[in-house]
Amino acid sequence: MSVFYLTTPIYYVNATPHLGHAYTTIVADAMARWRRLAGDDVWFLTGTDEHGDKIAQAAAKAGVPPQAYADRISAAFRETWKTLGITNDDYIRTTEPRHKTVVQAILQTLRDAGEIYLGTYGGHYCFGCERFYTEKEIVDGKCPDHRKPLTWIEEENYFFKMSKYQRWLIEYIERRPDLIRPERYRNEILGFLRDPLQDLSISRPRTRLEWGIPLPFDDKYVTYVWFDALINYVSALGGPGDARFEKFWPHAQHLIGKDILKPHAVYWPCMLRAYGEALGRGDGLVYRHLNVHGYWGLGGGKMSKSVGNVVEALSLKDKYGNDAFRYFVMREMVFGLDADFSEEAFVGRLNADLANDLGNLVARATTLLARKAAAPPAFAERILGGVLAPVAEPMAERILVPMADTTRQAIEHAMDEFAFHRALAAIWEFIGEVNRYIDATQPWARRGPELDRVLARLADSLRFLGIVLQPFLPDAAGRIREAIADGREPDLANAAFGPLETPPPVTKLSGLFPRIQTDTPRESTSGAPRTSGRPSSVEAAAKAPVTINDFGKIELRVAEVLAAEPVPKSKKLLKLTVSLGAERRTLVAGIAEHYAAADLVGKKVVVVANLAPATLMGVESNGMLLAGSADGKLAVLTLDRDLPPGAKVQ
Ligand code: MSP
Repeated sequence: MSVFYLTTPIYYVNATPHLGHAYTTIVADAMARWRRLAGDDVWFLTGTDEHGDKIAQAAAKAGVPPQAYADRISAAFRETWKTLGITNDDYIRTTEPRHKTVVQAILQTLRDAGEIYLGTYGGHYCFGCERFYTEKEIVDGKCPDHRKPLTWIEEENYFFKMSKYQRWLIEYIERRPDLIRPERYRNEILGFLRDPLQDLSISRPRTRLEWGIPLPFDDKYVTYVWFDALINYVSALGGPGDARFEKFWPHAQHLIGKDILKPHAVYWPCMLRAYGEALGRGDGLVYRHLNVHGYWGLGGGKMSKSVGNVVEALSLKDKYGNDAFRYFVMREMVFGLDADFSEEAFVGRLNADLANDLGNLVARATTLLARKAAAPPAFAERILGGVLAPVAEPMAERILVPMADTTRQAIEHAMDEFAFHRALAAIWEFIGEVNRYIDATQPWARRGPELDRVLARLADSLRFLGIVLQPFLPDAAGRIREAIADGREPDLANAAFGPLETPPPVTKLSGLFPRIQTDTPRESTSGAPRTSGRPSSVEAAAKAPVTINDFGKIELRVAEVLAAEPVPKSKKLLKLTVSLGAERRTLVAGIAEHYAAADLVGKKVVVVANLAPATLMGVESNGMLLAGSADGKLAVLTLDRDLPPGAKVQ
C-alpha cells in the first residue's frame, strides 16, 4: 500500500466557485478516488486562500469586514464541493489558527536561520495580482494579466533570500525530470531560471494592508499572500513533527492550473529547501510532483446556446448532472493543454459517450441478464431459439477477456501521469468492445450453458465498469454495481474477469444517461434532461432546471400599487395601476377572491415586468403580479424591508 497526499490550490475568496476551480477540484477528486480504489492511504486537501489586498478590497466593496466576507465565500466553495461529491479529507482556510501558527513558526525559523532580511524595494505593483512586475514583464506600461496601469511602490520590506537557491533549483529540477509535469511546464520554468532569480519580498507594511498574518518578528508587517498561502499544504498536516505531516508530506503532490506555476515551481521549492536546511532535513521537504493543467476558455463554441461565463459553465452540472459534468471536463481537456468549454460540446459528449456508448451498453446487458434471471425455463426456451454463429463467441471472447487487463493497465499508466482524458479513452475503448461482443455473440439467440457463458462475460464487464468508472462517474458506477447486486466496496483488485460462470441476479438499468434532445426545446417536460442519481419523486415534482442565464431573462421588479379596482363582470380579476418608478403600468391579477381592491393600494409588490402583454376580460395587462398559493390560500409577495418602486429583484 502506498501513501498519497494530493492538494488543490486554495482558492481566493474574492470570487464564487466557477468552472476553473471546479475542474481542478474534480480531477483531484478523481485522482484521490482512484488511489483509494487502488488501496492507497490517501489524504486529499483543498481549501480557501483568504488574506491579501484582493480579498480586503472585495470585502470593502461588499461593505462587510474581511473575515465575514471570507466566511461567506469559503462556505460557498465548501458547499459547491459537497454538491459535486468531492471527497476531500480536509478543508484548510488560511484564516484558521492552525494555519497561522505554522506560518509564523516557519517565518521565525527562517529569520533565525538568516534567510530573511529587511531591505528596500521599489517596483511596479499590480493590486489585482498582488505582485510587483519587472520591466521585462510589463506590457505597454500595464499589467500583462489585468491590462491595467501599474502603481509604483517603494517601501521597506522583508525579503527571503531566494536568489541563493537558483543554482540548486535548476539542478534539482534537472535531476528530477518528473518533478514538474507535463514537461512543457518544466521547460517553461527552466527557461525562466536562465535569468537571474531575485530575492522574494515576503511582507507588506500594515499601513498599506492590515488583512494578513503578522510577521512574528515585526508586527508592523503582514506576510505576503503567496508566502502565507503556499504554506497551507504543510500547515494542514500540522507541520513538521506532527504524525500526519511525517506520514503524508514525503508523498506530497500538488495539482494546479498553469496560472500559478511560478509560485509553485520556484518560490515554493526554494522555501521548502531553506526550511528543510534550517531543520537539518536538507532537500527532504521538497514536494514529489507538481502537476499542472491548462486553462479553460469559452471563446471557441460556435453554438447558439454558448455559455457566457465560467460561473454559468459550472451551472451546467445542475442541468445535466454531476457525472456528466465530471465526464465532460475530464474527457475534453487534454491534461496540461488548454481546452474550450461549450454546451454544444458537452451535450455532444453526453449523447455520444454517456447515453449511447455507456448507457446503451448498461441497458442492453442488464436487460439480457435480468431477463435470464426472471424467465421461467419454458419461457426462456421459447425466446432463445435463434441460429447461432458458432465462431463468434470464442473470437469475441479472445479479444474481450484480456482487454479488461490491458484496460486496467492503461488506466493505471494514464493516472500515474494525471492523464485523465487517456484513462477515460481507455475505458471507452473497452465499452466499445463489450458492445461489439454483444453484437457478435447475439446472446438473444443463444440458450443453455452457452448463453450463461456470454451473460457471465457481460456481468464481468459490468462489474469491471462499476469499479473502474467509480473515480470518474461515482453515481453511475454505484448504480451499475447496484444493478448487478455487487454490494462490496469498490476495489481495483476485483476489476478482473471470472471466475464467475453463472450470471448473478441483475436488475434492469435503463436510462443511466438519458439522451438530450437537441432538436426540441430542452424545457419541454418530455425532453427534459434527467440527472443520474436524482430521486424520481423530486423529478416528478420539480420542473427541469434552468440556467442562471435563463432565469436572468425574467425581469422582476418592485412595484407600488397606486390604484386597484375589480374588472367588470369578473369574479377573479382585479385591475391594478402600479408604479415602477419611472413608469406606470396596468396589470390584471387573478386575486379578487383573496384580496379586496382597497387592501392592495399602497402595497409594494413584486411583478414580472417583461411579460408579453395579454388582454384579460377586455383589459390589457402589462406584467404579472407574483403570489404564492397552497391549499386554496393565496398570498401576494411583498417586501420585508422598504425599497423604491422599480427596484430590481433577483
Ligand atoms: N489563491 C491562489 C492559489 C494559492 S495556492 C497556494 C489562487 N486562487 S484562484 O482562486 O485564483 O484559483 C486559481 C486556480 O483555479 C488555478 O490554478 C486553477 O486551478 C483554477 N482555475 C481558475 N480558472 C481557471 C480556468 N479558466 N481554467 C482552468 N483552471 C482555472 O490562484
